[in-house]
Amino acid sequence: MLVPTYNERENLPLIIRRLRTNVPDADLLVLDDNSPDGTGQVADELAAADDRVNVLHRAGKEGLGKAYLAGFRWGLDRGYDALVEIDADGSHPPESLPVMLAAAADADVVIGSRWVPGGKIVNWPLHRKALSVGGNLYIKTLLGMPINDATAGYRVYRADALRAMSLDNVDSYGYCFQADLTWRAVRRDMRIVELPITFVEREIGQSKMNPDIARESLRNITRWGVRYRLGQLRSLAERPGRARRS
Ligand code: GDD
Ligand code: MN
Repeated sequence: MLVPTYNERENLPLIIRRLRTNVPDADLLVLDDNSPDGTGQVADELAAADDRVNVLHRAGKEGLGKAYLAGFRWGLDRGYDALVEIDADGSHPPESLPVMLAAAADADVVIGSRWVPGGKIVNWPLHRKALSVGGNLYIKTLLGMPINDATAGYRVYRADALRAMSLDNVDSYGYCFQADLTWRAVRRDMRIVELPITFVEREIGQSKMNPDIARESLRNITRWGVRYRLGQLRSLAERPGRARRS
């Protein structure tokens, strides 16, 4: 269970306790980007008290994607068969994780989804809902992905699926990382299961979402979309036996 943190000192003990209660047999790794509020020290204290809790201290804030890549490497090197992504702020209910893990027995990727029947969002301001709906619509339209919540940050990945995703060339630093890996999974025909979750907006601390993160998403998704659509046109044009107009 990979838990990325940037200034989450009050949230971290709460989420770790909920995760350890709901999935007691899973190991946990905190990915802290040298949070100025001392989250790293809190993580060390929690790790000292519980063998299943580990900490990866990173030099500075490099974005969610970079933190997760470091976490995946850590987990794959140690031979875990599945890796979980979950926010530290309590938005992703650990109570849903046992069902998600069970579904991973039969899937490459399991997404805790806000935008499937049964999925809910509690306490999100209208502009965040609009961004999520708009972003997912843009992704669906441009990339033709059959996924309703491609930007979701609550996931289970099978280790083999991650190994097959060529993670060395990922260049999405922010939350766009989530859509990036979804797209990689779709292009490789992986089995993706979306299960409904209730996303509850954080009560403590602040979101790290910012205009740069949104801009990176728009830029990258557009780039992937153009490349994909041009590829489709090219293979149409090259189809043998097709009458060509000049
Ligand atoms: N290590 C590290 N480095 N952690 C980070 C960084 C970073 O640069 N940026 C954010 N985090 C951590 C936060 O501390 C938190 O645990 C988690 O990543 C999510 O950050 P939030 O800032 O709370 O995200 P959000 O609630 O605005 O956004 C949610 O929705 C997005 C859009 O659907 C998250 O679920 C995202 O994962 C999701 O993409
Ligand atoms: Mn959040």
